[in-house]
Amino acid sequence: MDNSSIGFFSRWARRPWYWFWKALEARQYRGREYSLQVPFGRRVHTPWFAKPDGSLFSEALSVAQEGGYVSQSPDRAYLLCRMVQHASLLGGDLAECGVFRGGSAHLMAETLARLGGTGRQLHLFDTFCGVPDFADAKRDYHRAGDYGNTSLDAVQARLAAYGGQCRFHPGVIPESFSGIDLGQRFSLVNVDVDLHPTTLACCHWFWPRLVPGGVMIFNDYGFFPYRNSTRLAVDTFFMKHPEEPIILPSGQAMVIKTNSWSDRGVAGCSC
Ligand SMILES: C[S@@+](CC[C@H](N)C(=O)[O-])C[C@H]1O[C@@H](n2cnc3c(N)ncnc32)[C@H](O)[C@@H]1O
Repeated sequence: MDNSSIGFFSRWARRPWYWFWKALEARQYRGREYSLQVPFGRRVHTPWFAKPDGSLFSEALSVAQEGGYVSQSPDRAYLLCRMVQHASLLGGDLAECGVFRGGSAHLMAETLARLGGTGRQLHLFDTFCGVPDFADAKRDYHRAGDYGNTSLDAVQARLAAYGGQCRFHPGVIPESFSGIDLGQRFSLVNVDVDLHPTTLACCHWFWPRLVPGGVMIFNDYGFFPYRNSTRLAVDTFFMKHPEEPIILPSGQAMVIKTNSWSDRGVAGCSC
């Protein structure tokens, strides 16, 4: 199946199917501490559906949802929140590449703030006016202009409560990385850019700048329409590294930096 047929299928034909699953999720899963795992027929712990009152995840997600659109499914939002918690125990800043209307950024910022002003910044990279003009039609599912219904002003207003904790880097990746001090280190990078060249650029720039124990999350790695974009870029990059992507049932993949490659190649990196 080529990308244009997949595009048609994903955008239109799949919609009734999507709403069916949404209704099923609301009925069968929401609020459940344990849920039936398809296709294995066993019940597993699903804190992303249960959202116990007062938990960091439940509170941070509620704030993000009150602030506007959050596109992440509960399981992906849960991993992101837990990884912010993990990152707050390490040195280095946090980043998100692909912000759109700020849904996942809001969740990250709120989680970080609730962990007590650790002094870490959340760097946000996007054009804030949609996918730029270099999507590769053969590989990429998205085209120039997709995600255009947002703006820098709107996202800045949404995240205004976090003040200097959020740093905005509007522009095209990787050029917009030039706004960061070359010595800056990161403990968590959420990559949600959907394009092959952009995902690859994020790997090349951030991986050498990750502290040991730091994590890169690839939001769309496992989804079928992204097999030739996000997944191919991640697999190609990490083929040359000892760390392997950990592929998750949520559709995300994450890679944890080990000590062995800690600072290799920063500034003039060839990895
Ligand atoms: C799927 S959306 C991000 C969704 C967001 N994380 C959320 O939770 O709502 C992908 C974003 O990546 C951005 N993007 C893709 N390639 C880019 C590039 N080369 N430079 C800057 N932004 C890019 C698009 O503008 C778009 O806003």
